[in-house]
Amino acid sequence: MACQRLLLAISVVALAAGGARARGFRFEEATIDSIHRGFKNGSLTSTALVRFYLGQIARLNPQLHAVIEVNPDAVRDAERADAERASGHRRASGGLHGVPVLIKDLIATRDRLNTTAGSFAMLGSVVRRDAGVVARLRRTGAVVLGKSNLPEWGNFRNAAGLDGWSARGGQAMNPYVMSVDPCQASTGSAIAAAANMAAVTLGTETVASILCPASVNAVVGIKPTVGLTSRSGVIPFTLRQDTVGPLCRTVADAVHVLDAIVGYDALDAAATSAASKYIPNGGYRQFLKINGLCGKRIGIPNGFSSFENGTVKHRVYKKHINTMRQHGAIVIENLDIANLSVSQNITRSGFLAAAPAEFKFYLNNYLSNLSYSPVRSLAEIIAFNNDHPVEEKLKQYGQQLLLLSESTTGIGARERAAIHQMEELSANGVEKLIKEHRLDAIFTPDSSVATVLAYNGLPGIEVPAGYDEKGVPFGICFGGLRGYEPRLIEMAYAFEQATMVRRPPTIKT
Ligand SMILES: *[C@@H]1O[C@H](CO)[C@@H](O)[C@H](O)[C@H]1NC(C)=O
Ligand SMILES: *[C@@H]1O[C@H](CO)[C@@H](O)[C@H](O)[C@H]1NC(C)=O
Ligand SMILES: *[C@@H]1O[C@H](CO)[C@@H](O)[C@H](O)[C@H]1NC(C)=O
Ligand SMILES: *[C@@H]1O[C@H](CO)[C@@H](O)[C@H](O)[C@H]1NC(C)=O
Ligand SMILES: *[C@@H]1O[C@H](CO)[C@@H](O)[C@H](O)[C@H]1NC(C)=O
Ligand SMILES: *[C@@H]1O[C@H](CO)[C@@H](O)[C@H](O)[C@H]1NC(C)=O
Repeated sequence: MACQRLLLAISVVALAAGGARARGFRFEEATIDSIHRGFKNGSLTSTALVRFYLGQIARLNPQLHAVIEVNPDAVRDAERADAERASGHRRASGGLHGVPVLIKDLIATRDRLNTTAGSFAMLGSVVRRDAGVVARLRRTGAVVLGKSNLPEWGNFRNAAGLDGWSARGGQAMNPYVMSVDPCQASTGSAIAAAANMAAVTLGTETVASILCPASVNAVVGIKPTVGLTSRSGVIPFTLRQDTVGPLCRTVADAVHVLDAIVGYDALDAAATSAASKYIPNGGYRQFLKINGLCGKRIGIPNGFSSFENGTVKHRVYKKHINTMRQHGAIVIENLDIANLSVSQNITRSGFLAAAPAEFKFYLNNYLSNLSYSPVRSLAEIIAFNNDHPVEEKLKQYGQQLLLLSESTTGIGARERAAIHQMEELSANGVEKLIKEHRLDAIFTPDSSVATVLAYNGLPGIEVPAGYDEKGVPFGICFGGLRGYEPRLIEMAYAFEQATMVRRPPTIKT
């Protein structure tokens, strides 16, 4: 009942908003839907769109360092997309056709762009083929705009993390509050989406690397169930947890991108074939439902709200819980995840016992599959850094974790026990809670839930939720069991439409 009345009220507002149209195409905050409308009514070409983003990158990147390389063929590829549309090519009417996509520098492209994890060590390496997700993007006619910056080697070079710095890309900055860490590994993609330097972007996550930068840069991040998106051609951390997902300005855009990149890949066969049963007929767009919170059972687990009473974050978080109730959700507060403190501590959970050995194993495999590379092993990367201490800022950042990883001798009994413990923590913790309370999602502030979602490859969607006293954005996360993307999308979309928190940053150049 409540849900029905509400829906009516919302659609009246949406109609009113749709009535006010400018004549020309509005590039700032363009969405994939508006881009397709612009293509259709002749107010936009893919070439104009690429030129707009190249202009934004030229203007903003000296300050934000979100982009490592732009694709020298982006304009040519956009012209091709425009020509296909003009000639009525069948793929030109939808998907990501003609849409410029920025790609994290861990994800291989077989074109003139380099794929380097932000490091000079891999500059000049040549991949055999596009990463699985990039091959899918290109098939829809998407335009690869360039590569985004990241902390060199994910956060795996130094135990303290690299705060968004890489030797090749420099120091990535938060476009909202420059002094704030833009957060971990997919930071360049999140910043570029936030600052309108790309239409949409791809990131990767092992722990928090999509969810965290999405949170602090006021964009939407989808961390898909592990295996839903192929990891072939992605510089790995651990395939047990690695996943590729979109970072975009809206839930709808992120879902468009998700639709384009999910699916089976023979080069990541086991994981993508196991997860393909989760992909719904007709894709994910059907779950962009304005009443997506109606009747949903949403759990609020204890232990994630580190903020204090009276802070903006606290007030806003409470307000959002109320909003979800008003939109028909059944919100169940005060739930406990078993062993949460163990899960959240990567020493006690087993992550740090397993991950260094896994990283070495998977990275060496990636390097050995390249058709050419100046470095062929983790040992050679370490040696390269030692030989180039100035460019690689060895004094400031060191390479302790690379050294620790190199000292491992394979995934043995100790590592397997640690992996087993992480799986148990997840199964007996968050997964059991969701099943016991028949939850559609857990709802947590910022990206604090990321470790809990990481160990068994569970999905999460981050949505902008507010700005703190200093103007730093923060998000909220809907997390669920493997394959819960359809209902997470319903809730995330309805939440976004009910709150409409995102606003673009104002950047003084
Ligand atoms: C074409 O569509 C775009 C996107 O919806 C809109 O901004 C623009 O005003 C439209 N232009 C014309 C001439 O209809
Ligand atoms: C890739 O790296 C090479 C140096 O090895 C450089 O000459 C080239 O310009 C880079 N490509 C792009 C697209 O920046
Ligand atoms: C926060 O305020 C509520 C009442 O508004 C109170 O019940 C709760 O104990 C307070 N929590 C803390 C940590 O101060
Ligand atoms: C994590 O656990 C280790 C080992 O028990 C402990 O030394 C460390 O202080 C813990 N870290 C945090 C942040 O609680
Ligand atoms: C990489 O090479 C190994 C053999 O060295 C092979 O088993 C594996 O399938 C290759 N992976 C990819 C993604 O090509
Ligand atoms: C977690 O907690 C449950 C119940 O509290 C316990 O049975 C289990 O052994 C704990 N440890 C792991 C790794 O799941």
